[in-house]
Amino acid sequence: MNDKVVVIVGASGGIGSRLGQLLGAAGARLVLAGRNTEKLMHLQSSLPPGAVVVPTDIRYPEQTQSLMERAIVEFGQVDILVNAAGAGVMKQFNKIEPADLDHMLEVNLKGSFFAAQAAINVMKERKVGHICNVIGILGKHPMAMASAYCAAKFGVVGWSKCMADEVRRFGIRVTLFYFGGVDTPFWDGVSLKVDRSKMLTPETAAQAIMFALSAEPQAVPLEINIQPESHMFL
Ligand SMILES: NC(=O)c1ccc[n+]([C@@H]2O[C@H](COP(=O)([O-])OP(=O)(O)OC[C@H]3O[C@@H](n4cnc5c(N)ncnc54)[C@H](OP(=O)(O)O)[C@@H]3O)[C@@H](O)[C@H]2O)c1
Repeated sequence: MNDKVVVIVGASGGIGSRLGQLLGAAGARLVLAGRNTEKLMHLQSSLPPGAVVVPTDIRYPEQTQSLMERAIVEFGQVDILVNAAGAGVMKQFNKIEPADLDHMLEVNLKGSFFAAQAAINVMKERKVGHICNVIGILGKHPMAMASAYCAAKFGVVGWSKCMADEVRRFGIRVTLFYFGGVDTPFWDGVSLKVDRSKMLTPETAAQAIMFALSAEPQAVPLEINIQPESHMFL
């Protein structure tokens, strides 16, 4: 990871912040993005010097564009984008409000799309890059109460695979991560009874992303699927 420039979108979150710590320890040059500046600065203070905080709301393409521009100003390049921002709404299908659906589509589907578009624009120039989309198992398996979330996450799988096909000629690789439940603040705002003690840890998720990022140059980890033993979708 030495000297790789990594933009983590969702660096203030459970998976993103643990990944930031692992990448920081491995010598990456980090751009930490999310909306909560306080949390981003807290992570920054735990990292080796040099990490940059860029407050970003991924629902707005002009902000994802500025994020990549700032990365270029600071470090001259972007090698890796990790899309680890998102939110969950878990409700009965008939109880989902239009605003819930908009929220899921705007953050989970469109936000990660905008971030990837902005990253590819800069990666294309150097013909090298890696985009990691942290999707979740609900991007390929349905679950009761998750219709709005699944609508967005299934959609992310769709655009990610189209994008991967388009950008391989620019030397840009794409890895999709299908984690089952991970014990992070994601679940704080979800009104669903879950046993967080049986979930994956952010460490497992972050280590899986590190594995994909460290693969030898001729190996492309297309998909990584890790689920907790207590709740597996086969
Ligand atoms: N936890 C799980 O069980 C699980 C399992 C599989 C996949 N996932 C997916 O993994 C990703 C990370 O989840 P997590 O568990 O780490 O959740 P988390 O701890 O709740 O973190 C969510 C992150 O998303 C960011 N975010 C939310 N809305 C944003 C916006 N509009 N603009 C920019 N950043 C935004 C948050 O930052 P700010 O609040 O600072 O904006 C935060 O950094 C999500 O896509 C989630 O769907 C989670």
